Amino acid sequence: MEKLSPLQVERLKYQPKLPSSLSNGINSLELVEGSATQSVRDQEQISELFKNTYGKPVVTFKSTGSSSASDVRNVGVILSGGQAPGGHNVIAGLYDALKSANSQNKLYGFLGGPSGIIDGKYIEFTDEFMDKYRNTGGFDIIGSGRTKLETEDQFQESLKVCKKLNISAVVIIGGDDSNTNAALLAEWFVKNNTGIQVIGCPKTIDGDLKNEQIEISFGFDTATKTYAELIGNIQRDANSAKKYWHFIKIMGRSASHVALEAALQTQPNITLISEEVEEKRMSLESIVNYMTDIIVRRANAGKNFGIAVVPEGLIEFIPEMKSMISNLNDIMAELESDPLFVNSTSTREKFDIVEKRLDENNAKVYNSLPALIKAQLLADRDPHGNVQVSKIETEKLLIEMISTKLNELKSEGSYSGKFSAQSHFFGYEGRCAFPSNFDADYCYSLGYNAFALINFGMTGYLSSVRNLTAPASEWVAGGIPLTMMMNMEKRHGEMKPVIQKALVKLDGPVFKQLEENREDWAMNDRYLFPGAIQYFGPSSVCDITTRTLQLERAKQLINA
Ligand code: FBP
Repeated sequence: MEKLSPLQVERLKYQPKLPSSLSNGINSLELVEGSATQSVRDQEQISELFKNTYGKPVVTFKSTGSSSASDVRNVGVILSGGQAPGGHNVIAGLYDALKSANSQNKLYGFLGGPSGIIDGKYIEFTDEFMDKYRNTGGFDIIGSGRTKLETEDQFQESLKVCKKLNISAVVIIGGDDSNTNAALLAEWFVKNNTGIQVIGCPKTIDGDLKNEQIEISFGFDTATKTYAELIGNIQRDANSAKKYWHFIKIMGRSASHVALEAALQTQPNITLISEEVEEKRMSLESIVNYMTDIIVRRANAGKNFGIAVVPEGLIEFIPEMKSMISNLNDIMAELESDPLFVNSTSTREKFDIVEKRLDENNAKVYNSLPALIKAQLLADRDPHGNVQVSKIETEKLLIEMISTKLNELKSEGSYSGKFSAQSHFFGYEGRCAFPSNFDADYCYSLGYNAFALINFGMTGYLSSVRNLTAPASEWVAGGIPLTMMMNMEKRHGEMKPVIQKALVKLDGPVFKQLEENREDWAMNDRYLFPGAIQYFGPSSVCDITTRTLQLERAKQLINA
């Protein structure tokens, strides 16, 4: 028999909470429709591209006293993109809702991400199989992948597989790109009279799939709590040994929400926010100067230690780097099919080929970087043709540049401290943790609600559960038309409809909290030690959600 840890055993027993509107079951629901919607921008182009699914209303659910029978339905589910804690619970909620609506209903899981629906690789869920994964982290139940579901051929193949399995609805659990593809697939299915619905669920630890309608994507809560635990532990170590500066890079491919939230939970000495760097047009040199200044001032106060938190996406927000990386991405796209480049065995040869093609200024920036970073910038691109920032060791780049700067200051006689640095990257450590109670409940509700949307015949909608700072019973369940969140953006040189990515708002309450405190946190050690996620115990500790959600909610209440 499979051996489980004591926590695994206990988490399998946890019963996730549902909003009270859903808790009487799928067959006791009433759909409440709002008024017609519009896309956030570019209404003309988006409505033209989504003729069949554009303009639908926001919907919410109400529980009714009566119960009605549901038709038999087969549903397929896909996990798409990077792992995020709680994905298994989205599927558990979907499965439970589907089976409670009609025990004849079937749920199929497509294997290995979106490619599963194209290649017809799937499993059928059973009670026994589902029960092994309740309240666990990871996406290993069916696996995930980054294949983009967007071409006519892929849609045709998906249709064949759905027809074979008699599937009338597909649920795509993913981030902004995957849900953009969900919108395209929904439109294509309607246009071609297939009768197949598509519903999305908002996933990503990065926290950048959020807007007026979606308060947060799932996984952000657990991932940030996990990183905060780790940062807190390092802070304790630094404060004990008093001999190291720890440079901690934290995941979040583009936006800095994760770094910001983890910083508010732990109060480190330095936190960089990419969006601020871009807004203030800070060069790499000025970032190094900013950090060096704090290191020198702390050394003058007798503190040759500290903690610096750096967002993963930083490098792409530094103006001169942004320009160089964009130039490099285009060159790498051209070189993908160049045998000279593909077959070059040494990084030196690759540098030479790339360098000759870079614009003059970009070549200068590229050449100013240490060899390690230059090599990392030449690594494989992601499916969107972008550099994979998780592979660029920005934390090491900063350590190297700051060391050089401090040596200069030392030789000028304006610094006499000691600088010894340790680097860390927290990313994969947080993506598959056991979901916090918040994520366990939120994900289960999102999945349950996704089936409610399917049962009412909706398509092209994102499952939405709102009012998340209130107890789960008061959460508001419903659906948001995917087209409502879209605008036109340039991708691979072409204008495409996409769901807008939410970056950190510099005038928002979350960044303000950091801004107001960072000088104090820089010089005085105001470290917080959040410790490990609590799954059992007083609800004030176990069910507490992120500072980000709390501060945003408080601001909304003030504005109301
Ligand atoms: P999603 O946007 O797909 O949720 O993934 C986000 C993320 O976790 C980023 O934070 C990180 O940069 C990236 O995935 C890493 O990707 P990979 O898992 O392919 O290494």
